[in-house]
Amino acid sequence: MNFASDNTAGVSEPIMMALAAANQGFAPSYGADDLTAGVKRRLAEVFEREVEVYLVATGTAANALSISTFAEPWTAVLCSHNAHVLTDECGAVEMFSAGARLVGVDGDHAKIDVAALADLLDHWPSGRPHVVQPSGLSISQASEFGAVWSPDDVGALGEIARRHGLRLHMDGARFANAVAALDCAPADVTWRAGVDILSFGATKNGALGAEAIVVFAPELARTLTKRRMRAGQLISKGRFVAAQLLAYLEKDHWLDLAAHANAMAMRLGKGIAASTSARLAVPVEANEVFAWLAAVDVARLREEGAMFYEWQGAASGVDSAGVPSDARLVRFVASFATDEGQVDRLLGLLGTGKDRVAAQ
Ligand SMILES: Cc1ncc(COP(=O)(O)O)c(C=O)c1O
Repeated sequence: MNFASDNTAGVSEPIMMALAAANQGFAPSYGADDLTAGVKRRLAEVFEREVEVYLVATGTAANALSISTFAEPWTAVLCSHNAHVLTDECGAVEMFSAGARLVGVDGDHAKIDVAALADLLDHWPSGRPHVVQPSGLSISQASEFGAVWSPDDVGALGEIARRHGLRLHMDGARFANAVAALDCAPADVTWRAGVDILSFGATKNGALGAEAIVVFAPELARTLTKRRMRAGQLISKGRFVAAQLLAYLEKDHWLDLAAHANAMAMRLGKGIAASTSARLAVPVEANEVFAWLAAVDVARLREEGAMFYEWQGAASGVDSAGVPSDARLVRFVASFATDEGQVDRLLGLLGTGKDRVAAQ
């Protein structure tokens, strides 16, 4: 019962087989191999247009390098207060952009509220040398609270970005989960809605370690070759990163893996919503479940070997009305490797309602 994160799961069978298949003979290094060229072609098909593609090993690298393409040192990049780039990347964005500042914007479920953003931008002090000027926005798809940005949601931000001359970055560490949940064309939720550059994640959804920076605004790609090298992210045996992504994208494997993870999260979410001993804290939209649990249930789940995180800190949009003060906010993440048995076992371990977080 490991619900700690989607990256506690292993590697999907087809991706493992693709790695073994790539392990034959010699191939040009540093991304000059045929498999890497194939990933670029395949991503162009997925996104229905030409794209520039830069493979890297981690989501943090994909985010920091993507944002560094447009964030000059004296600028600000606006994101949710809960954005991974702001809270969990140890200043990588700031370092790779030589000092650009990340600024949190209000919004529920780790999304950015459009009105709050518009207000912030409309009142941004300009014309003074003392104040950083906004250069871009960064949004996470799916968000850090498992919320999904619809094409219209992204489009509204894209429109604001266009009006203010800002770039729009999407952190797609869980892009597959969002696209599977939305059942939309990847293009509709990215460049057609105004996204300039995307961190296309695969590691959390069945790859071993493979992420792609997908550039829709070609001028942003100009410096990426050098930036990636300086960041130590040009992988010498690049064929193995590419092999993972090709298998990931083959016959919609990425979407099948994500749809399964989402279905498991939905099953868990429904079980929690129906229980008298726990409460959903935010709606389940992709593969993450946030819930209030009684302290005794948290302890029992841990004793039985369930792995999950208690979530710290208040966040906008988390439903906490009437929740007892000793209740715990926890996060469960489902992955491609989660099965119904694990979900049902976890639900079966929740208490029976005596002194619990009652359903409202
Ligand atoms: C929303 C989001 N973005 C980016 C990352 C970064 O990925 P990595 O751990 O590969 O650097 C994570 C990882 O937890 C994440 O949840």
